[in-house]
Amino acid sequence: MTETVLVVGASGFLGRSVVERLREDDGDGDRRVVGTYCSTPRATASVQFDFWTDSVESLVAEYDVDTVVFASAVEYGGDADTGDSSVAASFSERAERFAADCADTRVVYVSSAAVFDGTRGRYAESDSRSPRDDYSRRLVAMEDAVDGHCDDAAVLRTSYLFGFSTGELDHRLARTRDHLDRDEPVAYFTDMYKSPVLVTEAAETVARLVDGDATGVVHVPTPRVSVYEFHCEAMRALGYDPAPIERDEVPADMDVAPDASLSSEQFDSVVGFEPSAVRPGLRSQVDDRPDR
Ligand SMILES: NC(=O)c1ccc[n+]([C@@H]2O[C@H](COP(=O)([O-])OP(=O)(O)OC[C@H]3O[C@@H](n4cnc5c(N)ncnc54)[C@H](OP(=O)(O)O)[C@@H]3O)[C@@H](O)[C@H]2O)c1
Repeated sequence: MTETVLVVGASGFLGRSVVERLREDDGDGDRRVVGTYCSTPRATASVQFDFWTDSVESLVAEYDVDTVVFASAVEYGGDADTGDSSVAASFSERAERFAADCADTRVVYVSSAAVFDGTRGRYAESDSRSPRDDYSRRLVAMEDAVDGHCDDAAVLRTSYLFGFSTGELDHRLARTRDHLDRDEPVAYFTDMYKSPVLVTEAAETVARLVDGDATGVVHVPTPRVSVYEFHCEAMRALGYDPAPIERDEVPADMDVAPDASLSSEQFDSVVGFEPSAVRPGLRSQVDDRPDR
């Protein structure tokens, strides 16, 4: 029997790798993958869908969807993205409606380490969420909506996604590489920590959650690194000397999460592979590129 997976946000950095991975695994043709875009159609995403104005219910019915992967941005798409509380309230309503429309399917929702305020670090799935801004409150609202409406749902929380997705380097590392190429100064915080995840390994995790029956929250527990180390390690993997990258510290008046690194009590049993550290992960992608 053909299984249909709807990937919402399939034109995005992660969504593209998710669609590619799900299609790769479909040698016997028993899986159909339908991808949505919002503004930019891609080979991975041919169906237009806007979270703010469209109903996912009609897509679920039209394509007879078994599993919905939500790998879409949760920003407000319109001009009224002021971050004020009225926008947050309407996001919650949209989230509730989206989740209710998916109540009869399996759901894999891609959330973020940003649900934690980053004052402690190495957060596990059982730690209480502590959103610090409108973006994180929207992530929490979406998690709650999925939890409230969808019995068969897994929530994947990830930190920085990096590497090549369908041939394109992520925007953070592309910026650093551009600065090094142009001999322009670039600096990163040595006292802000993340657990960066190779985008293709995030996609592998999503695929295993699509195929499995685990419910609840799963973190990807990659090694904790400073943002400075992240960029240096990645540049080494790309063959650059990271020496020109300067060290910076988080200014005292800047309201950011200092340590949003993740640990996991679930990943080994639910997903079950060893996620890569920054340099070997990116290096493996470089080594595998057909244009080498
Ligand atoms: N990237 C990271 O470092 C990171 C870190 C932690 C968690 N995450 C999680 O992963 C998710 C995906 O990240 P990403 O880097 O792949 O994001 P991305 O590249 O910005 O992609 C966002 C996707 O959402 C779609 N989209 C935007 N507005 C939409 C709307 N109103 N309705 C429906 N779809 C809409 C975009 O479509 P168009 O491009 O066609 O407009 C695109 O397909 C994030 O939202 C977050 O929850 C990402």
